[in-house]
Amino acid sequence: MRLGAACAALLTAAWCATAARSQGVQAAQQASLPPLKIVGDAIADSLTGHQGDPARGRAIVLNRQVGLCLLCHSGPFPEERFQGNMAPDLKGAGARWSEGELRLRMVDARRLNPQTIMPPYYVVDGMNRVAPAFRGKPILTAEQIEDVVAFLTTLRD
Ligand code: HEC
Repeated sequence: MRLGAACAALLTAAWCATAARSQGVQAAQQASLPPLKIVGDAIADSLTGHQGDPARGRAIVLNRQVGLCLLCHSGPFPEERFQGNMAPDLKGAGARWSEGELRLRMVDARRLNPQTIMPPYYVVDGMNRVAPAFRGKPILTAEQIEDVVAFLTTLRD
């Protein structure tokens, strides 16, 4: 029986209010992301439990609609004519940072630099002026984050 119908039919108002609240809490938990395990400046564990695909990650980094990375960053991407100059060159990022450090930078760079202009790619809370299509969703999925991290770790020189 649906909660509303059950309440109307036989239960006390106090019980109904409590039950409705706990349903609300469950809904809120479903709308947010699983807790992050941040240790130091890194998230050591894969968000998906497995390795990402570097080729897919490269495509996300170069894509002007999905990752938007080249709005700010440049990198070892000879085929890309217009690259950003507001952020460090991604060349060598995999040598400068461990996989876990890259993962935290992708998930939420604000944790390392609250003033950063780099978007938090895997959060749903604390974001201002979110376009309707992105409300309640991170910019990238856990799979996409892992693909990008897998790609960045290959940028070793
Ligand atoms: C709006 C600008 C912007 C966008 C878009 C952006 N970044 Fe950044 N990123 C930065 C800035 C600025 C830094 C320098 C550190 C800081 O200020 O947080 C940075 C730092 C980094 C670093 C560490 C670089 C280093 O070696 O010190 C990596 C790796 C990185 N970004 C990857 C990415 C990837 C991958 C994307 C796309 C999915 C992306 N960024 C999108 C601005 C941006």
